[in-house]
Amino acid sequence: MSNIAAKAISTLFAIALGFLATSTMANTDNAAIAERIKPVGSVCVEGDDCGGASAAPAAAGGARSAADLYTTKCAACHTSGVLGAPKFGTSEWTDRAAGKGLDTLVNNAINGINAMPPRGTCADCSDDEIKSLVEYMVDSAK
Ligand code: HEC
Repeated sequence: MSNIAAKAISTLFAIALGFLATSTMANTDNAAIAERIKPVGSVCVEGDDCGGASAAPAAAGGARSAADLYTTKCAACHTSGVLGAPKFGTSEWTDRAAGKGLDTLVNNAINGINAMPPRGTCADCSDDEIKSLVEYMVDSAK
């Protein structure tokens, strides 16, 4: 093989290697970017195997329990009484229920009142779920 041919081949080889290296790197970057920008949550629709028993009750159409919703959605303010929120397990709840009536409490929870945000920030809570949450909190005081 002539010296020039050998040089040409090794140059081509180097170029090919370079391509390979950059395209491999590009792939890795894309995967890394996709991983970084993927949505925080994914939607689990009925019939899907959504990995885990926790998704099963929702997929089966069952309502979420008031106790669970309270812990995740309302406890932040209603456990310690933030901004004057009636405290869980205290007569503040029975007093309000007696004074205003349960329906008013439910309506105010749905629409918000003073520092109480509409639906207590639980945007995906149904009216029925809000009602059972209010009953749950009023019952906590009995
Ligand atoms: C950001 C804090 C915060 C969160 C979260 C929150 N609340 Fe409240 N809530 C309040 C405050 C403050 C009040 C007192 C409002 C007032 O009477 O001035 C209140 C009052 C209420 C009342 C009484 C309304 C009335 O008419 O007396 C109900 C019922 C209620 N909240 C339900 C809920 C439910 C159900 C959730 C969860 C889905 C929730 N809250 C989450 C702050 C919060």
